[in-house]
Amino acid sequence: MDREALDLAPAVRNFLDLSDAGGNALAAMIGDAIDRKAAREGRPKGSPDDDAPLAGHVLGMIFEKASTRTRVSFDIAMRQLGGSALILDSGTSQLGRGESIADTARVLSRMVDTIMIRTDDHAKAEKLAHHAHVPVINGLTDRSHPCQIVADLLTLVEHGKALPGLDVAWFGDGNNVLNSVIEAAGLMKFNVRVACPIGYEPDQSFIETARTGDAQIEVFRDARTAAADADVLITDTWVSMGQDHADDKIRAMQPYRVDGSIVAAAKNDAVFLHCLPAHVGDEVSEDVFEGPQSLVFDEAENRIHAQKSILLWSLGKLVPHS
Ligand code: CP
Ligand code: NVA
Repeated sequence: MDREALDLAPAVRNFLDLSDAGGNALAAMIGDAIDRKAAREGRPKGSPDDDAPLAGHVLGMIFEKASTRTRVSFDIAMRQLGGSALILDSGTSQLGRGESIADTARVLSRMVDTIMIRTDDHAKAEKLAHHAHVPVINGLTDRSHPCQIVADLLTLVEHGKALPGLDVAWFGDGNNVLNSVIEAAGLMKFNVRVACPIGYEPDQSFIETARTGDAQIEVFRDARTAAADADVLITDTWVSMGQDHADDKIRAMQPYRVDGSIVAAAKNDAVFLHCLPAHVGDEVSEDVFEGPQSLVFDEAENRIHAQKSILLWSLGKLVPHS
């Protein structure tokens, strides 16, 4: 008997990639995050928003990889929305001992209202979503990191950067975070110039899809060419979780460090983003990381506010922004 075929989940609003929401919903998420953030300014971080829209709701978080920001921001987001969150670490849950994703999805769907998963294998997140009866949110996979990019877009808008037409330059590894930046470009109509070594390009399918959404996506070998007149400079660790710390990769990445010369090539009011954790001295120099154009800690805080909008959207409770 095909046990899996017997249990096809009803349609729910999963957030496995940004395209699950689309450009209009992303804009609504950013608007809602800005409003909610302003409305609770000065309150203790764990106190609920006045409307507590997720009162009584529980988020289950599955972590198969380390996390600081995603873990804390989802927990605090749920408290601020009036609900609560719990964590299943792979080392201490039956998932880590081989219980199937399909059974885990069906059990958790009866116990929690929504599920977040951080895993090495994007197919696992898809399988979880396939079998769950509640929304599944991608908290980072080998393929993408959509929650991070909602926080990044929120940070840019907050700092006065209108997204359509923006020139965003990425330096270094063509990784999961970059794939989601490129996906966002197609949905929100901004441009991405990638500077990376041969063999470390982002996923071509994200590039092709973004181009059909009128985003210009270009790949350069020269970092300064990519940086020229950019509005936003972004980088990330050269070695993502689960990857080998290979000497040849580190050597290939050296010309792609975001340093003063990259910032000087960009627009005067360009801003610097990094999802963190950072390896200061590798992908970014200390003067840039700590400098006046760096928004990295606003970006980290915004994980909370972005997560709230994602949770509300997934549960069908995001009020359209006026
Ligand atoms: N940026 C980010 O996802 O951070 P964590 O790995 O700490 O969750
Ligand atoms: N690209 C990094 C992002 C960490 C938040 C990784 O996957 O490890």
